[in-house]
Amino acid sequence: MHAHETTTDGVGSARDWWEQRYAERDGIWSGRVNAVLADVAGALPTAPGGGARRALDLGCGEGGDVVWLAEQGWDALGVDLSVTAIERGSRASVSAGVEERTAFVAADLATWETAARFDLVTASFLQSWPVEIPRAEILHRATGFVAVGGHLLVTAHAAPPHDDLPVEMREYRFPTPDEDLTALQLDGSWDVVAAELRPRTATTPEGDPHEVLDSVVLVRRAR
Ligand SMILES: C[S@@+](CC[C@H](N)C(=O)[O-])C[C@H]1O[C@@H](n2cnc3c(N)ncnc32)[C@H](O)[C@@H]1O
Repeated sequence: MHAHETTTDGVGSARDWWEQRYAERDGIWSGRVNAVLADVAGALPTAPGGGARRALDLGCGEGGDVVWLAEQGWDALGVDLSVTAIERGSRASVSAGVEERTAFVAADLATWETAARFDLVTASFLQSWPVEIPRAEILHRATGFVAVGGHLLVTAHAAPPHDDLPVEMREYRFPTPDEDLTALQLDGSWDVVAAELRPRTATTPEGDPHEVLDSVVLVRRAR
């Protein structure tokens, strides 16, 4: 399949598309933590007794957020559809010397299960084009992984992240904070901490600053 061919036949295609995208070059993301996660996680309370807090990163890509969380003292697990991305995440955690606090799993989040519960579940830009994924379903499932007292953070591109998007991404519909909040299907045990648009200045690989718009949804499981 050509890397930018549009297909609609489910998650097998999404896996192929992302594998091919990662195979195109070594390191497609910056390796740095996403700004919203750094702001949010940095402000969360520490664990009672000072123990390690557990974090789960959905669609972790090459592990920049997982490595950063581990560097901040979290036990961090990253899950991604792409085996290549997961291998890069593992290597990044070794390079950063935090491999003992990280774990990476290659899996489809539409079906992945865990008995573990996390103090923070985060999804940064878990968006897929041109091959759609059952994103709303994945976000709803993610609520089940959050421990009582824990948080779920969903950060998404709410607008095109740069000008020279591939043609098929121009058709992509970016989520609003309200849509992502609705997708979670929260019951009465949750508090909504934030559901808002946040503008941010990002830097292109060439080092040029440009404005991007993030959708940020942060909720807390109260009971
Ligand atoms: C735009 S990237 C974001 C990567 C990373 N969170 C970051 O901020 O750099 C989206 C990621 O979601 C992953 N992904 C897409 N669909 C998935 C699914 N159904 N299950 C698990 N991961 C998925 C892709 O492989 C890709 O790594």
